[in-house]
Amino acid sequence: MSTHDLNHEALAAEALARIGAANNAEALHAAEREFLGKSGVVASLLAQIPSLPPADRGAAGKAANQIKGRLQAAIDERAAWLETQAIESDRQGLGFDPTLPPPRIDMGGLHPITQVTRELEDLFASMGYHILDGPEVERDYYNFEALNIPADHPARDSQDTFYCKGDHPLVLRTHTSPVQVRAMERLKPPFRAVAPGKVFRQESTDASHEHTFHQMEGLVVAKDVSVGHLIGAMKTLLAGIFGKQVEVRLRPGYFPFVEPGFELDARCPFCQTGCSVCKRSTWIELLPCGLVHPAVLRAGGIDPEEWSGFAFGLGLSRLVMLRYGIDDVRHLLSGDLRFLEQF
Ligand code: DAH
Repeated sequence: MSTHDLNHEALAAEALARIGAANNAEALHAAEREFLGKSGVVASLLAQIPSLPPADRGAAGKAANQIKGRLQAAIDERAAWLETQAIESDRQGLGFDPTLPPPRIDMGGLHPITQVTRELEDLFASMGYHILDGPEVERDYYNFEALNIPADHPARDSQDTFYCKGDHPLVLRTHTSPVQVRAMERLKPPFRAVAPGKVFRQESTDASHEHTFHQMEGLVVAKDVSVGHLIGAMKTLLAGIFGKQVEVRLRPGYFPFVEPGFELDARCPFCQTGCSVCKRSTWIELLPCGLVHPAVLRAGGIDPEEWSGFAFGLGLSRLVMLRYGIDDVRHLLSGDLRFLEQF
């Protein structure tokens, strides 16, 4: 071993000790600069080579490069170790654990009622229906009078209706039917329109009753409208809702604003032989409807001698419950995220 080699060994040992003692990235960088930098120790070893006797130059170059390689490897290893240490201490201290996935970002979503409403609006728009809106705080006239619901009719019972205080008789609308009359006042027959929206009833709540729920009113005014047109339109509507043809049946139903009035039942889309949705009957009561009463057409400024129409009142809340198997109407407006996040 030459004195050269001894010097190199001592130098390498000192450098390795310094690198091994570097306790943070700055200390490690300083050691790297000192030994491997442009004017560092290894660089000066290499710089001395041209002044050596030619016979020694090869060995000296080799030795210097070997030291360079060893030091570089030691620095890389130390840097990796410092990094895992930093992660580890962050994890244990008050810092954060960079290896964990980021916190979940909760995204909002559309309420199931909104989803079904929009779907039906698309369906009706594709069949040429106007999509209308009406006030939730409604005049007594539109909610009752113009719909042929006289002052002594039981539907006006204060049990069912929220009346507003004030000089003008205002109510929270108990159904979407008042939009029928508003539509007749605004649109020239023939026309078709639907009006989705919130309605309110003053009643005690349980799994199938809620003070606030959603309906979608439908109205078609044209010449010579018959019950056949009504049934045809309802079948198209139900096929759109359930994605397949469903059998329907009509039972007589009484509503002051239609004559004749019906309860339309649909063959249960969820079973063949009876299930909990149809209460084992294979029929579900879905759509009250009928031919528009002449008095209502007249209230809307339309001549019942010339025009006729049909109307229907789709229970949107009920439809959403049927579609998603929701067993309690009170979930719908509860705002409970555990419920809402399922849609
Ligand atoms: N408005 C009625 C209700 O809320 C439902 C209804 C029945 C609407 C018959 C209609 C209809 O358009 O023709 O109970």
